Amino acid sequence: MSNVLEGVHYFESILDTVGHTPLVRLRRVSRELPCPVLAKLEFFNPGGSVKDRIGLAMVEAAEKEGRLKHGGTIVECTSGNTGLGLAMVAAVKGYRAAFCMPDKVSSEKVNLLKAFGAEVFLSPTAVAPEHPDSYYSVAKRISTERPGAVLMNQYHNPANPDAHFKSTGPELWEQTKGRISHFVAGMGTGGTITGAGRYLKKMNDKVQVIGADPVGSILKHYKETGEMSEAHTYKIEGVGEDFIPTATDFSVIDRVVSCNDHDGLNMARSLAREEAIFVGGSAGMAAWVALEVAKGCGANDLVVVLLPDTGERYLSKVHNDEWMRDNHLLDPASVRVGNIAQGKTPRLRTLIRLEAGEPLKRALTLIQQHEVSQLPVFRGRDVVGTLEEGDVLRSALADPPSLERPVDAIMGPPLPVVGADEPADVVTRLLASRHAAVLVERDGGVTGILTRFDMLQFIAGGDS
Ligand SMILES: Cc1ncc(COP(=O)(O)O)c(C=O)c1O
Repeated sequence: MSNVLEGVHYFESILDTVGHTPLVRLRRVSRELPCPVLAKLEFFNPGGSVKDRIGLAMVEAAEKEGRLKHGGTIVECTSGNTGLGLAMVAAVKGYRAAFCMPDKVSSEKVNLLKAFGAEVFLSPTAVAPEHPDSYYSVAKRISTERPGAVLMNQYHNPANPDAHFKSTGPELWEQTKGRISHFVAGMGTGGTITGAGRYLKKMNDKVQVIGADPVGSILKHYKETGEMSEAHTYKIEGVGEDFIPTATDFSVIDRVVSCNDHDGLNMARSLAREEAIFVGGSAGMAAWVALEVAKGCGANDLVVVLLPDTGERYLSKVHNDEWMRDNHLLDPASVRVGNIAQGKTPRLRTLIRLEAGEPLKRALTLIQQHEVSQLPVFRGRDVVGTLEEGDVLRSALADPPSLERPVDAIMGPPLPVVGADEPADVVTRLLASRHAAVLVERDGGVTGILTRFDMLQFIAGGDS
């Protein structure tokens, strides 16, 4: 055989590139906290998520047990990421793959699995696990009816936490030189927190292992009471459950902190804008919990949070302003003023303005034509005042000849000016206090206006 590859640095297959993901410090979102917060960025895995780690581990376990043989089909219930991890293994090792998932999953995730040649079966989200149409039942059916098909069963497969005990845990320990004091991770199957947490506690039983759980999931209540409760739907994907997976060992977990959709999803958006770390909603949730945990820490503590996947899979959801707004989750702090001004319908987007010295009757015409309630008055590029509809009408009724006088005579002070690149909560604060509108400045010139109505329209949605 040729030795042309001798000394060449390469991997034998894509599967060998899984793991060894970097730790990156969260800087701006963690300012003013007493200790550093580091994020383990699992989107560096070739499939873009932490689940690459368990794909190979579960397949190899099934091979070793003699359940999965040449020509077999890998079957799994997965919200996408585990599917991708398994689809890569199937492609490299020559197996077929079939995945079952709830229909709330983003279309990006579904199409991605199909790109790897996998079959995808979608089930309604709001049915009980025991219902024949649930994605659990569909996966079970395929794995029993199709010859050579094997259910990977990540929720109850010991190879899942084991993969994290062997890879994620040791990486965290070595990367932090054993200084990690708090480990935060979201829980789906619980494989990550159980395996990595178990390893960290084996190395130092003082390491605190903290689970992040979406509001609506039953895992926090179960950890605290040992009892089941009723689950409610929520928007954060991949984490939280309505049943107890046996892959989770609750004795490894010290406590569980819950996080609502609004806080978790807006944190995912902040991580992109403030840290250039582009992750999904479950990572936003875990980061939000890590920052809450860090608030109660000391200067010698080191909080590490695992961020499970890339934001690219959620471009039509958490990273889409319209989706966030339609779900009443949009935090104005995560949107720029310029985006809102640009999003107004073309008719309302044009700034209607007056020049100082123009007669009041011109103001009256503009107010009637454009149905606006206030008009900024300019002298050249400078904003020098505001004309309110009420003041114009009052003046015209009380003294009709005043319509010939310049607007300067009755105008009020100028509206506040806000930069297009500023976060929109600056505007909501100004409008909630005493201003009826603000002007938007871009490239050194005032180009738009945002009224209370415009802001409500953007935040609450509705037809414009
Ligand atoms: C996006 C995402 N985040 C977090 C998790 C939770 O990881 P684990 O199943 O190891 O608890 C999952 C698992 O499905 C996931 O898909």
